[in-house]
Amino acid sequence: MNILVINGSPREQSMTRNLSNTIIDELDEKGINVLSFDVNFHELPLFKGDQSDLEHPEVQRLLEYATKADAFFLCSPEYHNGMSGALKNALDFLGGSHFKHKPTALASVGGGGKGGINALNNMRTVMRGLYALVLPDQFCADPTCFDEKGYMADEQAKERLLVVVKELITLTKQVNQPTETQQNASN
Ligand SMILES: Cc1cc2nc3c(=O)[nH]c(=O)nc-3n(C[C@H](O)[C@H](O)[C@H](O)COP(=O)(O)O)c2cc1C
Repeated sequence: MNILVINGSPREQSMTRNLSNTIIDELDEKGINVLSFDVNFHELPLFKGDQSDLEHPEVQRLLEYATKADAFFLCSPEYHNGMSGALKNALDFLGGSHFKHKPTALASVGGGGKGGINALNNMRTVMRGLYALVLPDQFCADPTCFDEKGYMADEQAKERLLVVVKELITLTKQVNQPTETQQNASN
């Protein structure tokens, strides 16, 4: 099982990277093959709909990872009540063929004081446009959830996050289970 984790924050000192690193560690521990795309490290050109953009090495990487992925964990900061422009730009390079029938979990980091929910709602609307199987459950963190080294120090928040991680794995296994007909055909 391949799960693609995307950090949608373009900032160098990103809180959302702390969140996506926590998710990656947890998936690693569970023996899942993780693909990771960070919009800061893997800087994409601005989507202009030009065919030539598809040759850009980071666009190639994104397309390759998204094609290989059986499931996605999308992480975004909340910027001006929505997902980051950088994450939306990355999603604009992808299409329904990358997401259809693929479980997708959503998580965000807001500025505190109940921020983050708008980014989640925005991501959910966009992912419906991409035909993703978005989990009903989701996760939202505050910057205070992390210690100065970037670890998720808030145990309650971590527990909640891990519930979503487990649900993503469970649904991905269910979606990829061979049907009875396929099983009979191989017997
Ligand atoms: C341009 C910008 C807009 C922001 N808008 C919001 C907002 O609408 N709601 C909110 O809760 N936090 C907002 N914040 C705070 C960020 O969500 C918060 O700092 C978060 O940790 C950023 O994640 P990052 O460090 O991964 O970029 C904004 C931050 C920036 C830089």
